[in-house]
Amino acid sequence: MNASAAGFAGEMLSVGLNVVPFVWAASPAAAELEGVVMDWVGRLLGLPQRLLFSGGGGGVLQGSTCEAVVCTLAAARDRALARLGHAAIMKLVVYASDQTHVTFQKGARLVGIPPSNFRVVPTSAASGYGLAADAVRAAVDRDVARGLVPLYLCATVGTTGLGVVDPVRELGEEARRHGMWLHVDAAYAGSAAICPEFQGYLDGAELADSVSMNPHKWFLTNSDCCCLWVASPRALTSALSTDPEYLKNVGTDGTGNPAAIDYKDWQISLSRRFRAIKLWVVLRRYGAVGLRAHIRRHVAAAKWFERTVAADERFEVVAPRKFSLVCFRLRASFAGDADDVNRELLAAVNASGRAFMTHFVVDGKFVIRLAVGGAMAEMQHVMDVWELLQDKAEDVLQRYRL
Ligand SMILES: Cc1ncc(COP(=O)(O)O)c(C=O)c1O
Repeated sequence: MNASAAGFAGEMLSVGLNVVPFVWAASPAAAELEGVVMDWVGRLLGLPQRLLFSGGGGGVLQGSTCEAVVCTLAAARDRALARLGHAAIMKLVVYASDQTHVTFQKGARLVGIPPSNFRVVPTSAASGYGLAADAVRAAVDRDVARGLVPLYLCATVGTTGLGVVDPVRELGEEARRHGMWLHVDAAYAGSAAICPEFQGYLDGAELADSVSMNPHKWFLTNSDCCCLWVASPRALTSALSTDPEYLKNVGTDGTGNPAAIDYKDWQISLSRRFRAIKLWVVLRRYGAVGLRAHIRRHVAAAKWFERTVAADERFEVVAPRKFSLVCFRLRASFAGDADDVNRELLAAVNASGRAFMTHFVVDGKFVIRLAVGGAMAEMQHVMDVWELLQDKAEDVLQRYRL
């Protein structure tokens, strides 16, 4: 989780002002600022015009990717059921990979997709643990042959476990073939796309129905803050809008003011926080140049760490690093039962109180993960972690050698 003085100040403003922009009339300034910052961030990420307000799409700030995913699943579901009739809900199928965040499985359950219709497509070292379009095609073809209806496909840019990037364009083409909703989950790594050298990872986003990114992960913005862009605001609001008499307001009376958004219709809850002010403060404080420098500093430190780990014969890098996450472990040839040794190494590093790392399991292997993400993290901190890691590795290996 990322935080900064600007994010802190923005959060205080959000909480202190207690503006609740659920309908436009409750705070026209807050609702309109949200539209403005969503287009700003979308442009910084190089998102296609069709996902921005200026191109007919639009964006909303939610609390988490989990909420955003439920909303997009509901929109996809209702778009399909409007065509097929409600009874067809039992036929709808959602596709993801074994590296996709579990929130998609939970979201699918929440919107009524039968659990047996959630396809977890396996990935492998051969595909770099990315979701291969031909594997999706095979799964879709099998389902269609059984009379099922492909509904929704998730592509991840920066998977939670390993930071892997799914091939968005190829998956988008696959989704188009069957009229599936394509969601691009760029929760963590989407922030990197503000740097031109990382924008290629979002190539194909023009085929997406929705894209999400969490500024509270790597964008110097205090929790909570999740950006969700959709190509068709109508698809989202058709699934989520409510229109009781007591919420009718002057902004949305059909007079055609495009900025007059009732954001209650873009999310699950009615009340909502003034997150736009927080993101606005971060954007104004750091600017594109400052935010890019922040991302590049972390990536450079992670790159150094990856190179250093790879050069030490005791260690191996488990998946090639793309952003600021390095996944590595002590090699089995040095470690006997490598999983136990790596578990002990991680526990020893964390018990030191000088660094905190997490783990993942891929292909049955226990993997240690170093994520460079703190607002004040510098190269020197990562070099210190490497010193610490070597000390602890030597201790652990010695114990295993005895
Ligand atoms: C790729 C990815 N998607 C979704 C999530 C869930 O994000 P949130 O906590 O905002 O729901 C995470 C969190 O780790 C993530 O890494």
